[in-house]
Amino acid sequence: MISMQDDLTRERGPVAVGVSTNSSDTASPSGASALNAAAAPVRFDATEEESQRIAALAGSTKGWLRLSRLLVRQPKLAVHAARTALRGAGAGLRADHTLSWLIHVDTVRQVIPNGGMGATWGGLETFMGLVAKHVERTAHALELGCGGGRVTRHIRPLVGTLVANDVSDRILDEARVATSDLAPIDFRVTYGLGDDLRNQEFDAVIGHELLMQFDFDELLRFCSNINRSLKPGGLFIASVYTFDDAAEIEQHMGMIRDHGAGARSPFRVHRMPRRTYQDIFEASGFDVVEAQRSRAEEYQAKKTPHTNFVLRRRTA
Ligand SMILES: C[S@@+](CC[C@H](N)C(=O)[O-])C[C@H]1O[C@@H](n2cnc3c(N)ncnc32)[C@H](O)[C@@H]1O
Repeated sequence: MISMQDDLTRERGPVAVGVSTNSSDTASPSGASALNAAAAPVRFDATEEESQRIAALAGSTKGWLRLSRLLVRQPKLAVHAARTALRGAGAGLRADHTLSWLIHVDTVRQVIPNGGMGATWGGLETFMGLVAKHVERTAHALELGCGGGRVTRHIRPLVGTLVANDVSDRILDEARVATSDLAPIDFRVTYGLGDDLRNQEFDAVIGHELLMQFDFDELLRFCSNINRSLKPGGLFIASVYTFDDAAEIEQHMGMIRDHGAGARSPFRVHRMPRRTYQDIFEASGFDVVEAQRSRAEEYQAKKTPHTNFVLRRRTA
């Protein structure tokens, strides 16, 4: 990124901060001349040529190599680096989908021996009502992120053929057991953000309690891949968490105040204004057919109701 200082440097050559280049500055104690003009032990400016060499060096060396070099030069940093590595490993374990959701299932089973993932979640009536209303009974459908099969059980009777995917093959085992009494389902392990989806395979893609796990840029990529996997005019039905008015924004700010600005749940739940989700969906090639908020009564525990979007792949 070229800064204003870079522009000045190109025009005048290196300019030491605090050294006046304009005689009128001397009359102005609040201008550049008010900065400390004494020769500093460290230089805070660079010529254009030096800037380019720094950028080239930073771009050409692997981060690991640069970190190792830094640690050799400043061995005291090793303790900080070790702590950071441990923290990173902890964050990685918490963010791992297979482990976090299987821990969740394990916790459920301590109370309900045959319980499945999401036994306490509820919140399906409005979502499934939209699936029933919009998806053709003969549709070839995909359920994204099927988890332990909680929603899969409701989707299966409503469509002709069903593919259900998840990033975790261990979680798909849970879903296989949970749906073993239903018509066949093609369970597939997926990876990334829908990069492996085939072009124009499905009439409908259905994803409940999935998109809230992703950042803005991840969503753009995921939704574009989902769009690509749909036949022209195909439907994407998805639930997200939104805040739609000042009270909800205040409630969300309260959570940030209480838990710290950087805090995230282990499941990386994101919540954005409805309009922002709509913009992401539209930028990914969808038109919004309908958006409906679930009702608070649908949930077993106190929870922010989902906003459920019905989206159609744009044809033109
Ligand atoms: C909160 S659970 C919801 C499961 C199910 N949809 C339900 O509502 O009961 C989210 C699921 O999405 C899966 N998942 C995470 N990232 C995914 C991705 N990129 N593609 C497909 N599934 C994913 C997780 O492994 C997990 O099983």
